[in-house]
Amino acid sequence: MNRFTHLIDLDDLPISYIEKIVSLGADIAENTAKYSEYCKDKVLATLFYEPSTRTQMSFQTAMLRLGGTLIGFDNPETSSVAKGENLKDTTKVVSSYADIMVMRNPVEGSAKAAALSSDCPIINAGDGGHLHPTQTLTDLLTIKLEKGQLENLTIGVCGDLKYGRTTHSLCKTLSKFRGNKFVFISAPELSMPDYIKDIVNANGCEFREIFSLEDALPELDILYMTRIQRERFPVGFEAARFILTAENLTLMKPDAIILHPLPRVDEIEIAVDDDPRAKYFLQAKYGVYVRMALIIEILKNEYPTKLLSYECSDRVCANEKCVTAKEKYLPQSFSRKGDTFVCDYCEAVL
Ligand code: CP
Repeated sequence: MNRFTHLIDLDDLPISYIEKIVSLGADIAENTAKYSEYCKDKVLATLFYEPSTRTQMSFQTAMLRLGGTLIGFDNPETSSVAKGENLKDTTKVVSSYADIMVMRNPVEGSAKAAALSSDCPIINAGDGGHLHPTQTLTDLLTIKLEKGQLENLTIGVCGDLKYGRTTHSLCKTLSKFRGNKFVFISAPELSMPDYIKDIVNANGCEFREIFSLEDALPELDILYMTRIQRERFPVGFEAARFILTAENLTLMKPDAIILHPLPRVDEIEIAVDDDPRAKYFLQAKYGVYVRMALIIEILKNEYPTKLLSYECSDRVCANEKCVTAKEKYLPQSFSRKGDTFVCDYCEAVL
């Protein structure tokens, strides 16, 4: 067991803890000034190996609104990563300067790998196409504030469900709330990975997969649109896209909400922005409040995080996007899941 509470995957934390963060985020949204000295003398490091607007700046705003200060980089080429420094050494050093660290990295499992050598808590701000847990906290706060409940909802998730890490974290977590149903809307070649469908199933939630946005819209309480993650496609790979138009809105329930983690490319027409059901800019704003709540809770270190199980360690992860393929010094570790083993870093099946 590690001595810190890291946020690598929301699955590592009890659902009561996640609900506590969402409730605190709601209070902070109402009473932001009350928390303005909470992190006085604390330093947040933001290490962004990959581009970001919302996640990086909302974490920075969150720490500043809590009275803390910031260090970090938003381009590894301006740090000693450009000289070949490995993830372990960068993490070890920066964690000796900061009280809490936020990391985005294009390599799957990198936040967990960083946590192994960190001397402060690490928050996963996106690890390749794998997970994006703080986007999910943002989504949960938005749903709580705009729908009033996290249970008994029909959620349509549309777009790139294969590479869209926000959809993976969201479905894993929302399936823990009673009575939620999912409609996965994507091109067949960008469908939801089996391991996420297995989790949704195991959590007792219904899901179905369809290939028409229009057919799905009438039943949805929440439409969660995502962009095509072209930067993660293999060379030459193409897939059909879905676009929410202003005309489509007539098919939706009057009290449905439309979410998008952003950035948008062209999957939601600009004309949709004026519809009161479009909540994606509000969602980005709520990201500051829930990240303030997360920083407050994580710094308490109440839930030491289990990082590696070593239930199997004599095999090598075959996922070429796994951090173990790049950072060769890392120990291999797999956990038993049913009849098989999955990599503790990237969740690839052995
Ligand atoms: N939603 C999200 O992760 O946005 P950024 O890539 O701008 O951080």
